Amino acid sequence: MNFSHLLRVDVNMLISIIVAMTPERLIGAAGRLPWYLPEDLKRFRAITMGHAIIMGRKTFSSLGRPLVGRRNLVVSRNPDPPKVAGIEWFNSLDAAIEAARRAPTGGEETECFIAGGTEIYAEALGKADRMYVTYVQRDFPFQGDTYFPVWDQTRWSVVSHELVKDLEFVIYERAESHAAIEYVMEPGN
Ligand SMILES: NC(=O)c1ccc[n+]([C@@H]2O[C@H](COP(=O)([O-])OP(=O)(O)OC[C@H]3O[C@@H](n4cnc5c(N)ncnc54)[C@H](OP(=O)(O)O)[C@@H]3O)[C@@H](O)[C@H]2O)c1
Repeated sequence: MNFSHLLRVDVNMLISIIVAMTPERLIGAAGRLPWYLPEDLKRFRAITMGHAIIMGRKTFSSLGRPLVGRRNLVVSRNPDPPKVAGIEWFNSLDAAIEAARRAPTGGEETECFIAGGTEIYAEALGKADRMYVTYVQRDFPFQGDTYFPVWDQTRWSVVSHELVKDLEFVIYERAESHAAIEYVMEPGN
């Protein structure tokens, strides 16, 4: 049977991790990114624009401001976090994910992005359906102190791979996605 005329529709919101790391899984240095990579920032912006982004309080502090054009959901254990325009605070990753499902405009979110750091990524690895990974490799080693958690790559399939100069953009999907997937007939079939 040929299914090529079917469109894949994700019924539930996709939970996606987005991260840039070295092959050694380095992601941060002294509270900031260990690099300045305009090509990766541009890609991050394009992928996440219009969606909900969930991040840890330290990652938000390093940004210093909400990212424009996106819902900014920040996770902290602080019961009384500072009021910052454009920031929604949550005391757990699950609470932030639940809030991300319902867009403030009343619509439903299709994909939310988990944007780090380490502890948030570690918890999100068990919940995510998709991962957007930029592998950063340069001739010289980057210095840093914060790493993406060890993860079981055998549970993930590469669905897209692109090499741009010395950046490798890889999209993985979980072998069995958590999001309910439904197939609908493509118009005209
Ligand atoms: N390369 C990349 O793609 C990338 C992406 C993101 C971040 N980074 C880098 O990573 C570093 C920051 O990451 P990090 O791991 O140090 O910190 P982080 O994950 O951004 O923030 C940690 C904070 O988040 C809150 N938190 C974490 N887990 C929580 C939970 N389960 N429930 C409630 N609150 C929770 C706590 O905030 P409170 O202390 O307020 O309670 C905790 O101190 C920076 O260097 C940043 O530049 C890199």
